[in-house]
Amino acid sequence: MVFTELLAMAEQAVGEDVVDEVLDGLDLDSGGAYTAVGSYPCSELFAIVGALSDRTGIDAGELQRQFGHWVFRTFEQGYPQFFADKAGALEMLEAIEGQVHVEVRKLYPDAELPTFATRMLEEGGLEMQYRSDRPLVAFCHGLVEACVAHFDRPMQITRTGGADGREALFVIREVR
Ligand code: HEM
Repeated sequence: MVFTELLAMAEQAVGEDVVDEVLDGLDLDSGGAYTAVGSYPCSELFAIVGALSDRTGIDAGELQRQFGHWVFRTFEQGYPQFFADKAGALEMLEAIEGQVHVEVRKLYPDAELPTFATRMLEEGGLEMQYRSDRPLVAFCHGLVEACVAHFDRPMQITRTGGADGREALFVIREVR
């Protein structure tokens, strides 16, 4: 799903011809043919993001982040049940590790997921520690931003650490 959505986003942004050109220029084991239910090496994802970044001049981290926003929309449409009973963004984000991704793992046993350690802050906020085997912290940042926007209540999001993209602390604070 991640691969098909990345290509869908890229096609909307730069057109199908440019995407085909980018894929043709890469030596991908899969040949660049993805299905929503298949599993593919993460290295191919980074090869595609890198090539799109070269081609468009948009920083690869920024592309990952925009991709987080894009994917969030597919979550909203495809899995509304996860959002329905949540009062706000903090509650939603807190539930990813213990509820949402638990269900994802049941549906897709091959899913490669990060781990989140969360702590609610007394003054109104959430600390969320991201850890992954994959350097997708910027993608995660986009998801967190989109999640806050979904619940339509302004929050301040800070991210620290994550130089290698596999670990970062997000602090999401209510703006009063
Ligand atoms: C809204 C907050 C969410 C956050 C911050 C979040 C975070 C992430 C991140 C960062 C990844 C990339 C894998 C990695 O970093 O190692 C991921 C993968 C994934 N997440 Fe979530 N997620 C969220 C919500 C959801 C929801 C609502 C669903 C609904 C089904 C979902 C399903 C998935 C799936 C299917 C993958 C891909 C696994 C794979 O490619 O193998 N996530 N998530």
